[in-house]
Amino acid sequence: MNDVLPRRARLITLEGGEGAGKSTALATVRDCLQADGANLVVSREPGGTPLAEQLRAMVLHASRQDDADERLHPSAELLMVFAARAQHVAEVIEPALARGDWVLCDRFTDSSFAYQGAGRGLDMAWLADLERRVVGFLPGLTLWLDVPVALGRARVQRRGGVPDAIEREQDDFFERVHGGFAARMAADPQRFARIDASLPLAQMVEQVQRAVTSYLQQVA
Ligand SMILES: Nc1ncnc2c1ncn2[C@@H]1O[C@H](COP(=O)(O)OP(=O)(O)OP(=O)(O)O)[C@@H](O)[C@H]1O
Ligand SMILES: [Mg+2]
Repeated sequence: MNDVLPRRARLITLEGGEGAGKSTALATVRDCLQADGANLVVSREPGGTPLAEQLRAMVLHASRQDDADERLHPSAELLMVFAARAQHVAEVIEPALARGDWVLCDRFTDSSFAYQGAGRGLDMAWLADLERRVVGFLPGLTLWLDVPVALGRARVQRRGGVPDAIEREQDDFFERVHGGFAARMAADPQRFARIDASLPLAQMVEQVQRAVTSYLQQVA
């Protein structure tokens, strides 16, 4: 089970659906930590090392062409994101935490529970086993940028660009993903701060600042 995994106080993760505002909030968290004088490593998943970024590209761009019949199988997707995570944890996160640095990561294991678990319907016990064997710890703080699916989708569309393989999923998939994040938070409420990401930007940023400031006071 989750709650037996140790927490790493200096690992902060940002989670949420497409267009929730994770990357926007990341800049706010980074500013708070740097103002506090922290040595900080900023990273993202899937990715964060050259090899892990290659795996990310394969997951996000698999069967992009409409004439490519081969779809990435859900189990293959899961193992590829955990392969990327294994590399990222060993090469970047563990060494940074061992040095006493802070690590700020745009998505982490909770996204696998939400996308590959709740979204794709893969066995949660399998995911929990991978989490235990591949990662072995939990973040100290996870900010869940919670936004209704339709609003997140509208923001991604406004931002433009070619949708990747995940972004091309239907709304029922993203509703399951949303439920997956909610379930992860319900199972471990102390680790999470839920941010109302449907608020206007300035208010969302304020919520993020409050959550991080109160966390820093708590772990000081
Ligand atoms: N609270 C907000 N109000 C209005 N617009 C916002 C808000 N938060 C983010 N945005 C805008 O919505 C878009 C998506 O935000 P952002 O890129 O931070 O989301 P994300 O969660 O990182 O998305 P992705 O899942 O694609 O990585 C950006 O153009 C951003 O400026
Ligand atoms: Mg982003």
